[in-house]
Amino acid sequence: MEILALDRSRIPEAVQVFNRENAPFELVAKLTVDLFESQVASKSTFDPGTSFLAVEDGRALGFALGCAGQGENHVADPAIGAVDGLFFPAERLRVGDALLERTIETLKARGARTIYGFASQPHYPFWRGIYFGAEPVCATAYTHAWAAFMAHGFEHHQQSFTFLGPAEPKDYRTDLDYEVSPLDVSTPWLRESWKGLSPRVLTSRKDGEDLGRVGFVFMPWMSERRGVAMAGIYTMWVDGKRRRQGIASSLMNRLFELLKGEGVTEVLVGTTVQNTAARRTYEKAGLRFVAFRTGTRCEVT
Ligand SMILES: CC(C)(COP(=O)(O)OP(=O)(O)OC[C@H]1O[C@@H](n2cnc3c(N)ncnc32)[C@H](O)[C@@H]1OP(=O)(O)O)[C@@H](O)C(=O)NCCC(=O)NCCS
Repeated sequence: MEILALDRSRIPEAVQVFNRENAPFELVAKLTVDLFESQVASKSTFDPGTSFLAVEDGRALGFALGCAGQGENHVADPAIGAVDGLFFPAERLRVGDALLERTIETLKARGARTIYGFASQPHYPFWRGIYFGAEPVCATAYTHAWAAFMAHGFEHHQQSFTFLGPAEPKDYRTDLDYEVSPLDVSTPWLRESWKGLSPRVLTSRKDGEDLGRVGFVFMPWMSERRGVAMAGIYTMWVDGKRRRQGIASSLMNRLFELLKGEGVTEVLVGTTVQNTAARRTYEKAGLRFVAFRTGTRCEVT
């Protein structure tokens, strides 16, 4: 087995690996060379010096994408390393070892002090709208990848519930005003992270005061894979003084109404396991648990 730099000439092989490894997961879009180019390789965070492809007898077996995560002021910070994707066959654990070891070593050489394993903290350099929604984090069902992180000194850093369900509106508070606006993606990091997508925000107000908001995005590539029009929720917030008054539930139902009007039939969202308030809100809106996801972290010594 050889570990090669994942440079542009190797993209078709990485795409094959990605599709083969994610074939069981309906919540992962089918990748094409063009999609890999636009959502991964063309971004300033993509680094063939820290990303590797494992090849044996001319056949690509797996790949790992090492890059810098988002630091202060929305700028890539080499001290925050990220392995934002590790794909290899379950029956070939040594392929994962070799890929991870090489990626960690090169990220360390670039100054990484903390390395995240497919977690949200580096703030989604790649894969938004491709891998389990708008906030890609390693699927725990892809057991051997997060086990490989564990085997290399990474620890659980976050565990998230993923919820999915129909955009089926129920009643919402009509004493509030609702407004949709585009998400402000004014920093280069946010522009790249959201590339190819049009994130929006639905805000609820009363007497001109913002009470809460929900961020959402149409996800064309995942829609194509599942054969239904899908949107992802990437943020939800209600003013601390206004909680438990049905504002988040109203936002969800107003959002569903809006999405239904645009032809969207399915909505996906993730939240950390500790966030009971968010979980109850999503369940009350009719979404159901479909996947568990685990991001990992390792302090570099
Ligand atoms: C999560 C959040 C948006 C909920 O907003 P909210 O307006 O208080 O929610 P609602 O009043 O519409 O409540 C929706 C459901 O969740 C339940 N719920 C809300 N907060 C809860 C809490 N702290 N504990 C248990 N249940 C809670 C409500 O009881 C309600 O269910 P019910 O009608 O069966 O009783 C709000 O707590 C928040 O902004 N939290 C901080 C930001 C955050 O965590 N966002 C989610 C990121 S994924």
